Amino acid sequence: MKFFLDTANLDEIRNAAELGLLDGVTTNPSLIAKEGAKFEKRIVEICEIVQGPVSAEVTSRDVHSMCRQGHELSKLHPWVVVKTPTTKDGLRAARCLIKDGIKINSTLCFSSSQALLVAKIGASFVSPFVGRLDDISHDGMNLIREIVTIYRNYGFKTQVLAASIRHPLHVVEAAKAGADIVTMPYKVFEQLFQHPLTDKGQDQFLKDWERVKSVVT
Ligand code: E4P
Repeated sequence: MKFFLDTANLDEIRNAAELGLLDGVTTNPSLIAKEGAKFEKRIVEICEIVQGPVSAEVTSRDVHSMCRQGHELSKLHPWVVVKTPTTKDGLRAARCLIKDGIKINSTLCFSSSQALLVAKIGASFVSPFVGRLDDISHDGMNLIREIVTIYRNYGFKTQVLAASIRHPLHVVEAAKAGADIVTMPYKVFEQLFQHPLTDKGQDQFLKDWERVKSVVT
C-alpha cells in the first residue's frame, strides 16, 4: 500500500519523505489556501521533495477551462497528476487530458457508480472521500470495499486512492479493503507510529538496561 500525504505544507512533506515512507502527495485548493502559498510555485516545490505523484487540482467548472488548466499544470513538473472533479464535465475534461497522455486523479468521488465511470475513461487514480461520507452517516469505508471489488472484477487499472482520512483506523481499514493508496493528513501519519504500550515497554527496557550496565562480574 502506498502512503500519500494530503497536505501542501513543505515541512510535513519533508518529514515524511525523510523517513522513506512517502510515496506521493495530494493537494486541493483548500490545503494550498491554508498555506498562503502561490499555487504553481508550491506544486513545483512539493514535486522536488517527493519523487512521486503529486496531485494538483483544476479550479474551473467548464470543460474547456479545465482542459486548458490541466495542460498547464501538467507542464509544471513530470510528477504532476491533474485532479479533476468526478462530475460529467470533469470526466469530459479528464478524457481529453488522458488522450494527451496526462495522468488524472478523479476527485470528490462519493459513489461506486462514479468510480466505475472514472475507471472506464482510464483515469490513473480515483479518490473516494471516506471521512466526508462518514460525516453524513454513510459508511465511507464500504465505498472503498465496493470500488476495490468492482475494479478487481474487471481488471481496471485505475488505482483506488482512499481520501478524506480522519484517523489511523481509516488507514488500517483501507489497507484491509485493498486500497492501492491512502492519502492522509500529517497528523494521522504521526498517529500511525504511536502506541502507549510501545512507550511504556521502551521506558522499562531502558530502565532495566541501566541495571544490567552496573553489573560488574
Ligand atoms: C483528497 O485528495 C482530498 O484532498 C482530501 O482527502 C479531502 O479531505 P477532507 O475531507 O479532510 O477535506
